Amino acid sequence: MREIVVPLAGREYSILIGPGALRELGPRLAALGFRGRVALVQDAGAARHHGAAAAASLTQAGFQTTAIDVPAGEASKCLAQLGALWDAFAAAGLDRRSAVVTLGGGMIGDLGGFAAATYLRGIDFVQVPTTLLAQVDASVGGKTAIDLPAGKNLVGAFHQPRLVIADLATLRTLPEREYRAGLAEVIKYGVIADAAFFGDLESHREAALRQEIGALTYLVGSSCEIKAQVVGEDERESGLRAILNYGHTIGHAIETVAHFRYLHGECVSLGMVAAGRLAVTRGLLAESHEQRIRALLAAYGLPTALDEPLPAEAILEAMLHDKKTRSGELNFVLASHIGEVQVLPVPPEEALAAYATLHEPR
Ligand SMILES: NC(=O)c1ccc[n+]([C@@H]2O[C@H](COP(=O)([O-])OP(=O)(O)OC[C@H]3O[C@@H](n4cnc5c(N)ncnc54)[C@H](O)[C@@H]3O)[C@@H](O)[C@H]2O)c1
Ligand SMILES: [Zn+2]
Repeated sequence: MREIVVPLAGREYSILIGPGALRELGPRLAALGFRGRVALVQDAGAARHHGAAAAASLTQAGFQTTAIDVPAGEASKCLAQLGALWDAFAAAGLDRRSAVVTLGGGMIGDLGGFAAATYLRGIDFVQVPTTLLAQVDASVGGKTAIDLPAGKNLVGAFHQPRLVIADLATLRTLPEREYRAGLAEVIKYGVIADAAFFGDLESHREAALRQEIGALTYLVGSSCEIKAQVVGEDERESGLRAILNYGHTIGHAIETVAHFRYLHGECVSLGMVAAGRLAVTRGLLAESHEQRIRALLAAYGLPTALDEPLPAEAILEAMLHDKKTRSGELNFVLASHIGEVQVLPVPPEEALAAYATLHEPR
């Protein structure tokens, strides 16, 4: 079992990583001083496999547990489900000493976390991420949100969890494609912050793909450490935190235009390939490093080229309307080496040219 502390002055919290960590849920909550009632807000897809274990750990530790099921899928990250959670919290009699526990992927963490951030002007919550993406990314950093018809994550709050329990055994029931999509974010951490970690991902590919516990503990732990450090230095996203968006400018645009075809991590993979190309064209990144990034993504079964062209105008439109875009100028995270990135302004035409290279056979 590995424990990582997210360094936030006065609000540090632990991420507990290991197979079977879910058994620690109830005892850890009790140790944090929670008493009485717990709302277990669970993604129906995750609950089918892991809901009973979560509930058992809570009840055995003496918590009066109310399980609340939310249908799986991004469509549940909406105002209607948020309202249903508030009503369920009231019906369950949650008070300020109660905790909300979210069980599932990034969808439930964002929705349940936002419900906790707003109920009674904010009650504590604990995350039990059960997708790789949620374990290495969504559960770290304290961003919670719901989507609006006008766009993703448009309403939300910063609300740090009191504890994160990343039970590696829960990943065994995750569809293979979801697992691989999460690996794109893991590879991202290597590119933006840690060349040695990137090298280990190259040499331990098979163990990582087979979900060997040693490899998994290392890659989830290192990813959380990198994200925790970035978030610790820039909790409210005024500067450094932007580097976490590596591969996301073009990636998000692809996701917006073709979201039924690709998972988020697959779009990030494509976005990283395009960002690598852009950096090489600028003379910022050595061709050999760009090739290593592309080869690693491919080796992990992630897409590195578009199988079908998407309309360039729609991609440009999506890039310019990204909520992180400042007035017509794109801020791009570009690698100068594996392990080091810079945030630089990029004219939209240059970004579009980099995007277009995703259609070229290489
Ligand atoms: N807050 C943040 O900082 C942050 C960061 C990245 C992403 N996100 C958000 O995360 C969401 C995406 O998260 P995701 O990729 O985890 O998707 P998800 O939460 O939608 O889960 C993906 C699928 O996996 C299923 N599932 C979850 N755990 C399972 C398990 N152990 N076994 C079998 N099936 C399981 C779910 O039912 C769902 O069908 C998006 O809404 C995104 O905006 C938030
Ligand atoms: Zn992402």
